[in-house]
Amino acid sequence: MLALRDAGYTPVVIDNLSTGFRWATPDDTPFYEADIADDAALDRIIDAHGIGAIMHFAGSIIVPESVSDPLKYYFNNTVKSRALLEAAVRRGSGTSFSRRRLPSTASRR
Ligand SMILES: NC(=O)c1ccc[n+]([C@@H]2O[C@H](COP(=O)([O-])OP(=O)(O)OC[C@H]3O[C@@H](n4cnc5c(N)ncnc54)[C@H](O)[C@@H]3O)[C@@H](O)[C@H]2O)c1
Repeated sequence: MLALRDAGYTPVVIDNLSTGFRWATPDDTPFYEADIADDAALDRIIDAHGIGAIMHFAGSIIVPESVSDPLKYYFNNTVKSRALLEAAVRRGSGTSFSRRRLPSTASRR
């Protein structure tokens, strides 16, 4: 977000603050406390700011919890990401996802 600001963009932040902090976003950056699966909020925010690209970093990241409660992680990281993608498609915005370096199953075939 700070790099985008430095590059002259006006980022808009959406976070449900489930693990994040409001103070992490500068006061002069538009911030919405909303869930990425909240269709109505997403449509409203995308339209209000004329958003043309979405960078997706929202998710649950605690590895031990993902093992003890995998369905919670599937829901937040997979099902809700699909809802965000759907909103992007519905409103005509592009979406990019954060990536970790993971061994590729495709490369082992
Ligand atoms: N931290 C790293 O070094 C790193 C490296 C590569 C990829 N990633 C990936 O980037 C993503 C974010 O990682 P992070 O370290 O910034 O995690 P983080 O926990 O610091 O940030 C995730 C944010 O997403 C928010 N959030 C969670 N679920 C949400 C939802 N349903 N709707 C709206 N907001 C939601 C949380 O409140 C939190 O602020 C993850 O997918 C992670 O795998 C992180």
